[in-house]
Amino acid sequence: MFSFSVALLLLCATPLPTTAVALPFAQKGFMDLGKRIDVEGLMMMMMNDEEDGSADGEHYKPDYFKPEQPTCPFGCQCNQKVVQCSDLGLFYVPHDIPRETRLLDLQSNQITEIREDDFKGLSNLYTLVLVNNKISRVHPRALMPLKMMHKLYFSHNQLTAVPRNLPSSLVELRIHDNHIKRVAAGAFSGLRNMNCIEMGRNPIQNSGLEPGAFDGLKLSFLRISEAKLTGIPKDLPEGLHELHLDGNQIQAIEQGDLNQYDGLYRLGLGYNQIRHIEHGSLYYLQNLRELHLENNRINNVPGGLAGMKYLQVVYLHSNNISHVDVNDFCPEGFGVKKTYYNGISLFDNPINYWEVEPATFRCVSNGMAIQFGNHKK
Ligand SMILES: *[C@@H]1O[C@H](CO)[C@@H](O)[C@H](O)[C@H]1NC(C)=O
Repeated sequence: MFSFSVALLLLCATPLPTTAVALPFAQKGFMDLGKRIDVEGLMMMMMNDEEDGSADGEHYKPDYFKPEQPTCPFGCQCNQKVVQCSDLGLFYVPHDIPRETRLLDLQSNQITEIREDDFKGLSNLYTLVLVNNKISRVHPRALMPLKMMHKLYFSHNQLTAVPRNLPSSLVELRIHDNHIKRVAAGAFSGLRNMNCIEMGRNPIQNSGLEPGAFDGLKLSFLRISEAKLTGIPKDLPEGLHELHLDGNQIQAIEQGDLNQYDGLYRLGLGYNQIRHIEHGSLYYLQNLRELHLENNRINNVPGGLAGMKYLQVVYLHSNNISHVDVNDFCPEGFGVKKTYYNGISLFDNPINYWEVEPATFRCVSNGMAIQFGNHKK
């Protein structure tokens, strides 16, 4: 079994079940186990966050079997500051949620709309899970009371726009698998420092990302996979460490496409229609650790990999590469490579492998790190 790994700071990631990890080259949405959010995982993360930072001194011990507190909404389970109301067939957010609630789980209900006062008074709420409902409308003022909110999970709904007036405390937003076509200028205004935005599987075209959509936002992780992008978007947020654009219809990487993103550690461009990577277009990615270009239509190993000092993992399988040059991956002469590769995948390309010189892989940690061969994906 073949799987590469790079030790990276995986912001907003959570351990996946081992079966998902063991699948080679599977790129799964973090914590996206089907359409469910793992609430126990969230509680653990919340506790960790609190230990790290704004601890309020009180440690809650999840205990689902305690009698319900008097203020718990009908049918929900309330424990300490966690209110779980998933899978109840609810059409609206219940009105009697305790004010001290830190985590509110409303996933897998029938909610179609978030009304203006649905979250009134919930100024302590840290995590809100609305995944897998039928929400198409969020009142523009509905999120304003949520002054402490860090994590907002809206995936698998019917939103057509990013909810308005996101709380400035937000660090993680998931709006994966909705109907969003357009991200308006200023959609994230008021937000400064975020870890993660997951907005894949929305019908977003390049023209749908309005100029200024991300103005003022600093962000580490952005995923717009399985959308309708035909090129690498311009003016994405500042400070990106991870950018995942796999499963789009991107045709080429052109000069200037990546100049703004020189802080990237990981770049995911697999499962696109890339035929052409303009020479020098990867030049600015001097910090890159991991590059995914599998399942495209590339004819050559992209220029510039040998100059990336920290590059450790390159996925190039299932392309149309027929030739690998001895200097495609490793620097010549006095060029410096600070970390050796621990994964290069080249299988399912029309390469005559016996023509590839062994010295091509002189800066690879060991022979197991190269996936050659003729296996199909
Ligand atoms: C693969 O590359 C060859 C040239 O090396 C070209 O003739 C052929 O059309 C390419 N195939 C595809 C599917 O792009």
